[in-house]
Amino acid sequence: MIKKTTIDQVYESARVEEVIGDFISLKKSGTNYKGLSPFTKEKTPSFMVSPVKQIWKDFSSGKGGNVVAFLMEHEHFSYPEAIKYLAKKYSIEIEESKQSEENKKLNNQRESMYLISDYACDFFQNCLINSTEGKALALSYFKERGFTDNSIKFFRLGYSPDILDSLSKNALKNGYNIDFLISTGLVIAKDGSSRAIDRFRGRIIFPIRSMSGRVQGFGGRTLSNQKKTAKYINSPESEVYNKSKILYGLFESKKSIAKEDACYIVEGYTDVIQLHQSGITNVVSSSGTALTSDQIRLIKRLTSNIILLFDSDPAGIRAALRGVDLILEQGINVRICTFPSGEDPDSFARNNSEHVIKKFLEDNTKDFIQFKARLLSDNSKNDPIKKTQIVNEIIKSISKISDVIKQEYYLKSCSDIMGISEQAVFTSFAQHNNKSKINSSRRASLVKVPKKDLDLNKIDSKYILEKQIISILLQYGHLEAEYEEIVIKPDEKGEVIESFENIKSKVFEKIFLDLQQDEVELADPTFRNLFNKLISAYQLKSDSAVNSLMFSDNHNLSSVVADIIMETEKYFLHSWDSKNIFVKDKTHDLGQLVCETILTLRKSLINDKINILKSELKKNNNKNLLEDIINYNQLKKTVSKKLNRVL
Ligand code: CTP
Ligand code: MN
Repeated sequence: MIKKTTIDQVYESARVEEVIGDFISLKKSGTNYKGLSPFTKEKTPSFMVSPVKQIWKDFSSGKGGNVVAFLMEHEHFSYPEAIKYLAKKYSIEIEESKQSEENKKLNNQRESMYLISDYACDFFQNCLINSTEGKALALSYFKERGFTDNSIKFFRLGYSPDILDSLSKNALKNGYNIDFLISTGLVIAKDGSSRAIDRFRGRIIFPIRSMSGRVQGFGGRTLSNQKKTAKYINSPESEVYNKSKILYGLFESKKSIAKEDACYIVEGYTDVIQLHQSGITNVVSSSGTALTSDQIRLIKRLTSNIILLFDSDPAGIRAALRGVDLILEQGINVRICTFPSGEDPDSFARNNSEHVIKKFLEDNTKDFIQFKARLLSDNSKNDPIKKTQIVNEIIKSISKISDVIKQEYYLKSCSDIMGISEQAVFTSFAQHNNKSKINSSRRASLVKVPKKDLDLNKIDSKYILEKQIISILLQYGHLEAEYEEIVIKPDEKGEVIESFENIKSKVFEKIFLDLQQDEVELADPTFRNLFNKLISAYQLKSDSAVNSLMFSDNHNLSSVVADIIMETEKYFLHSWDSKNIFVKDKTHDLGQLVCETILTLRKSLINDKINILKSELKKNNNKNLLEDIINYNQLKKTVSKKLNRVL
């Protein structure tokens, strides 16, 4: 754990415009900076950075937030990685809170393993480029396969000399510890002798890097054609290398995957490299193992569209089929493209121009239903029993999808492709779901969803109102405004009268107290969370609530805050500096704005409450419930009355 003091120091020192400036070319525009969105392929700049507020907003993708959010989005760092990156950039010493001795030892061990792997990677690269043996055997092999110097450098390819202990000797000479050479598997300790032997000797080297670029392990391919030796040897499982949790090419492709919003998965190292050379740079490899859920999760951080590229041999097809359901289960869209027999992405990319490859991918990528249907039905066109099996196969895949709308789309598509009535497909789907009861509680069966429950307009208007409340709180919470209030008191004769009086108070107090009266809460969980945080921040220190939230370590919250603040500014994209006028205008009618928004929201929330109570009443006829409903109806009347006066 990084200490809070370090994190605070990082936030104090980091300048959002400087950090982003390292990645994107920014031009001054008024008090702000503008640039091309790094997340889309736009031609006119809509990426804005506000040095005053220390936030950024990308209007073309809708992303935004503080400096840490930028690094998490752009570099796909985790939160601690982003803090560490900034600490390094601003020369801040990182203090970590006390760890247990055991934990510390483990971390140190892991760190040492990474360091030694990086050293080995350099060593192998150097042997490839500079040694006579490397040049003659390995570099020429890469060249023969059509790898460019650029790729060799970009993928940090290397060569491990065909000598028993060249790596271990050099590493030890440079002060590295034999224990870590062994625990990373770079070196194999020989039982009973002190001799250590390089694992990858005589092989070309493909280093495998983590999402953040650290060398985790290696794949080594033999140069000999002898059947006796294994074609590939990989690093053994260790504290830093877990083959079910790595993807070859992830680091090299991550930006492109995010930008293209799609990821190709291929079988091997060479497929990744060759496709990169052909301009297809959003590609990773599961390195010969069956795709795992952990690997899919890694991709999910970047995109929710996966395209599987496989050979059309039985092994390739089996691998593709296995992957499909796993991917669907994680809510990711999956398509499949197989290559002509005898070709894999590597050979195909090598033998065709970029244009042809892209066209081929475009024309031959099918969604998983088409793929399954085609595959399974090739030899069973008119056999009704086989056909049923195929439909059931497809339905099984569809049942893995949790999005109801997508399910409906695919069920229709299945009926289309298989030439079976929608009715039959839907019924069969419902039956399948009933059979697998374990899942059916989570995935509401399509057939059961009553359409009328989905009133999108209603959801939207409340969402907008709640957002407006947050927006008002963020921008004007600390200001004082004047509101008209109904005051109830006895007159001289002792009779109760209602009168309207102007009352002054801070905006945040007014909002808080008014909403509290009704005992209702904001419906959207993020807004509710923000609301509570903002109110308590204002109560503590009334004018810096926004800052404390912007720089909270809750990435999600700070990004919502940035979003809301920037949204107001969106209307002034061309003349941001005139925003002062805007603020003045609004402050003028601030009281009015606050009242109007609160009252409309209250009305809507009270309405919801009444509806909930009513449906409960239907289930059990309870006196208290009835009383509550009457009270809320009374409240609704009062609120409506006030609202009519304000409007
Ligand atoms: N693989 C492995 N161990 C093996 C064989 C294969 O780890 N014994 C992995 C490698 O990651 C390899 C991938 O499976 O890249 C695909 O295997 P294959 O198609 O045989 O290898 P290519 O990399 O395509 O090698 P080449 O084109 O040189 O034959
Ligand atoms: Mn191959």
